[in-house]
Amino acid sequence: MEPKTGLRRNVAHYGDAEFAAYLRKAFIKAMGYTDEALDRPVVGIVDTGSGYNACHRNMPDLIEAASRGVMLAGAIPIPFPVISLQESFTHPSTMYLRNLMAMDAEEMIRAQPMDAVILIGGCDKTVPALLMGAASADIPAIMLVTGPMMAGSWRGERLGACTDCRRFWGRFRAGELDAGEIAQVSDTLAPTIGTCGVMGTASTMALAVEAMGMMLPGGASAPAVSSERRRIAEMTGARAVGIAREGLRPSQVMAPAAFENAFRTVMACGGSTNAIIHLTAMAGRLGIAVDLATVDRIARETPVLVDLKPSGQGYMEDLHRAGGLAPILREIRGALRLDAPTISGRTLGETLDAAPAPWPQEVVRPSADPVVRGEGMVVLGGNLAPAGALLKTAAATPALLTHRGRAVVFDSLADLAERLDDPDLDVTAEDVLVLRDAGPIGAPGMPEAGYIPIPKKLAREGVKDMVRISDARMSGTAFGTIVLHIAPEAAAGGPLGAVRTGDMIALDAGGRTLMLEVAPEEIAARLAARPPREDGETRGYARLYRQSVLQADRGCDFDFCVPKERARL
Ligand code: FES
Ligand code: MG
Repeated sequence: MEPKTGLRRNVAHYGDAEFAAYLRKAFIKAMGYTDEALDRPVVGIVDTGSGYNACHRNMPDLIEAASRGVMLAGAIPIPFPVISLQESFTHPSTMYLRNLMAMDAEEMIRAQPMDAVILIGGCDKTVPALLMGAASADIPAIMLVTGPMMAGSWRGERLGACTDCRRFWGRFRAGELDAGEIAQVSDTLAPTIGTCGVMGTASTMALAVEAMGMMLPGGASAPAVSSERRRIAEMTGARAVGIAREGLRPSQVMAPAAFENAFRTVMACGGSTNAIIHLTAMAGRLGIAVDLATVDRIARETPVLVDLKPSGQGYMEDLHRAGGLAPILREIRGALRLDAPTISGRTLGETLDAAPAPWPQEVVRPSADPVVRGEGMVVLGGNLAPAGALLKTAAATPALLTHRGRAVVFDSLADLAERLDDPDLDVTAEDVLVLRDAGPIGAPGMPEAGYIPIPKKLAREGVKDMVRISDARMSGTAFGTIVLHIAPEAAAGGPLGAVRTGDMIALDAGGRTLMLEVAPEEIAARLAARPPREDGETRGYARLYRQSVLQADRGCDFDFCVPKERARL
């Protein structure tokens, strides 16, 4: 019997495996292949390009380069599409569709004959979605990202999506920029294709996945438009053939040690809060339960070292010139699990030993002189967040990290849009803005609405930050004293639903608590009196989503996609 590789792999049977293989060959030959080309291992290449996705606009180039690498190594590349998600173009949120993309990837990887798969993603949700799917399918897989965009400039000032998007929009709202100027800014915020150039979710996930070992060394940071990005794609293609031959599967790399390294990298990067949800979901696919207390411990142990916006000053192109991930890992080496295997065939420690020697640079700071002293992110508990909440302290105003204020409650995104800028809104800079029904079920899709704008009348007075709390997420590129991911969310019966305007709320980031200063019996009575949610008639994906989505502390995956727990982190 011939080995079941390449097009001979057992997929669609028609009851006769040989006949099925013969039929597959007949159809692929319609595209002009010879037997010589086809009688070899097949490497599938996931194409997530789309006319809606500027972050993935180099997809044709990357597929070409990866295909070249596959062929140089003696196999045949076969690209195939799965859905594409770009942050700005996806309603109600990309988070709502991340699990759909993960299911699409999982099933298409499983359905079609391939011995390994190259996952090409980049924009925020695409990397976790592809890895969630690949982890569940568990055939040899390797990640390639599209790479970050270059930084732009306006009137001599460097800028980039999307930290500066918000900063300039805030200045426009405050009347500091006119309509013509904000239009000029929008011309240069995303001056090239590629993923957001700051330490947003895309950059954070790319670096975390490289640290996790699912990407070739150096693969996270090369700009989307660079020749180096294409060389990485070619090398990824060649390595995909290696893992096909070795049978190296995601489950062998994506182990608890790899996730620990990934979380630590997120913290050292001053990375996006979204990464916590995504890494939790990815781990969940392998039966690894992530404890938020572990995430908080790793955060406490890891100073923020990378001087990129929004916590610092630079852009991804600066980090790339400084050496990318290697100098970061070198700085936190003592805390890493160096024996973790990676997709390159080396352990993480061996990879670091083989990395280019360090050179002087100022983007990755030494542990002794970090960008942010102490942790960049904290996990909160307390009676308002029984299953946890996150606060990115690195992007917050230090003076607000311990704060007590009067709640000003918005019941939904619509309520927020309607009343936030009302000149008669009773609000001061000391108040705590509360947004609810913006979580995984509530919104639905947990939009990045946690960055509640400063009410216009306060913004005009020069107020730049306030304590804001919600069950929503926030863009990894945003800044402010913003408590996110409150779990359980209001729509799932969480205590956030009990808050009323005028209640006192106390945030103590150091003590890790978020407290509603209302008696427990009163909170219980208010929750019991909340009218049941009216979701109207739901069908199709919306129904599947509402019935199955887990809360933020479990990564917002679908309950039926998560296997039995096998390990804890
Ligand atoms: Fe795609 Fe920021 S919008 S990475
Ligand atoms: Mg984002």
